[in-house]
Amino acid sequence: MKKFQNKSELSLYLGALRANGSSIGFVPTMGALHHGHLSLVNKGLSENDFVVVSVFVNPTQFDNQEDLVKYPRTLDEDIILLKTVSDHKIIVYAPTVEDVYANSVTSQSFTFDGLEYEMEGAFRDGHFDGVGTIVKRLFEIVKPDNAYFGEKDFQQLQIIRKLVELHHLPLNVVGCPIHRASDGLAMSSRNTRLTKEHREIAPFIYKTLNTAKTMFGTKSAQKVTEWVNNQFKKQPLLEVEYFIIADIKTLKPVKRKSTRKSYRAFIAVYAGDIRLIDNIALN
Ligand code: PAF
Repeated sequence: MKKFQNKSELSLYLGALRANGSSIGFVPTMGALHHGHLSLVNKGLSENDFVVVSVFVNPTQFDNQEDLVKYPRTLDEDIILLKTVSDHKIIVYAPTVEDVYANSVTSQSFTFDGLEYEMEGAFRDGHFDGVGTIVKRLFEIVKPDNAYFGEKDFQQLQIIRKLVELHHLPLNVVGCPIHRASDGLAMSSRNTRLTKEHREIAPFIYKTLNTAKTMFGTKSAQKVTEWVNNQFKKQPLLEVEYFIIADIKTLKPVKRKSTRKSYRAFIAVYAGDIRLIDNIALN
């Protein structure tokens, strides 16, 4: 498997592949890969000749230094996992902070038509400036034909679509369904940091989202939101940061349902000091 730490060497290599007419898919990650990531890589391989997987824990998107320090870094295991998918068609880019940011580890300031102020944007200061900065930079380095993002971070996916649109970036953004453990917990690199007790209770999040989806067929967004918040109050191991039913285009909370719009329910929950997010399509 080809592995690069340096963006100039990567660019040269990809340039040669492109010159031969090969298409390039891209899966940006922060490592600690799991089967959710592999589903993105597999989708990329089915639609492109090669797939670049970047493994980079991006410092500028963390609003919490402790989370950044504790974020799992498992490059050797990540490569072993990627090799189970393909040894020859996957290219790993695992840069240092200097290779990406030179000597200024700061984010650019972005506007994303207001998408950046909702949910994660409201609770994680500067998060989407950090995501926008790194993803735009990685797109400029990799120059992919198609880039793959999971719907678990649905707000991030919509923001990246907006980034591509507003900055006229020449690539196609592909959203991929949430990959779940057999008990329903959405796959996340943070799951490995859950205690046994928190891991056991965490599927409650998806179970509650599923019931919320059924309720949304007949009840108002407000009633469903109240019900969800009450369910979590009975669950001392999990603390809801937000539960919001929002329009998938604007990400603004729904006031009155319209049959012409599509909605999703979004949730952020603390299990101890681990923050988990999930979402579900409602209609
Ligand atoms: O979703 C992630 O893992 C990160 O936000 C991303 C897109 C790799 C940017 O660092």
